[in-house]
Amino acid sequence: MKRIPTIADMKAACRQATRSGKTLGFVPTMGALHEGHLSLVRAAKARCDVTAVSIFVNPLQFAPTEDLDKYPRPLERDAGMLEQLGVDLLFLPTVDEMHPPGAQTHVQVNELSTKLDGASRPGHFRGVATVVTKLFEIVRPDCAFFGQKDAAQVAVLRKLVNDLDMDVEIVVCPIVREEDGLAMSSRNIYLTPEQRQQSLVLHRALMRVQTLADQGERSAARLIEVGMQVIAEEPAARLDYFAVVDPNTLDPVADVTHGSLVAVAAYFGTTRLIDNILLT
Ligand code: PAJ
Repeated sequence: MKRIPTIADMKAACRQATRSGKTLGFVPTMGALHEGHLSLVRAAKARCDVTAVSIFVNPLQFAPTEDLDKYPRPLERDAGMLEQLGVDLLFLPTVDEMHPPGAQTHVQVNELSTKLDGASRPGHFRGVATVVTKLFEIVRPDCAFFGQKDAAQVAVLRKLVNDLDMDVEIVVCPIVREEDGLAMSSRNIYLTPEQRQQSLVLHRALMRVQTLADQGERSAARLIEVGMQVIAEEPAARLDYFAVVDPNTLDPVADVTHGSLVAVAAYFGTTRLIDNILLT
């Protein structure tokens, strides 16, 4: 595995890798890797000839009040895991390399960026869309792999790629969970043992909604009501949103259909966790 810190070298390595017609799969991450990230890498390896991963904690997508400084950065551990999986190229740019002082250009997917997580994290998806556009231009992958865990991010990036006619296929992989149901996240390490226990309420609420929907309940209002009741059973959880939406527009739906997205976000202490299911 080649570790590459500069944009120029990463471009050269990616162009070299695809010169002979090989396909390039790309997994952008912010590091602190867990099985969720690794599942994307495995999917990329299975699908493409060459696999590139980036680790970059992107300041543009953090609000000043958020956890940029304390975001975990276990670089050697991450690199070891990727090496073992057979990743070919690991892009590790510095902040100055990716966002040199004086840059003036941002990429914004307007409406979608204000929905769900975008509503409580203004500017977040502008930061994501900008860095992903840059990464796509540097790597020029055939396929890029993202997790369903960040369902709103998937909607924003699909729209970005479509609106800007980018030649990259967005591949979305299922949520990887801990044995007890908690969706894996680099932020789970912030939770105290008590909060870790309390956080299970998110998955519990989603499972309850899934069961109701399986039994034929089509009313989004009713599903939301029941989901919120489950969340309320855990007083330590401070709900941000519990929503039933169209997964592409992120607009609320009145009646659920196959593929409707049920998404939840809540704070446990200062840690914000998200989770979701796609109804069958
Ligand atoms: P990060 O939070 O590191 O996540 C990188 C990728 O891993 C994302 O596509 C995310 O959805 C996926 N992922 C995280 N937890 C997962 C889980 N439990 N199961 C499946 N996939 C999971 O998302 C970002 O970084 C950034 O916004 C980024 C796209 C890299 C742009 O900076």
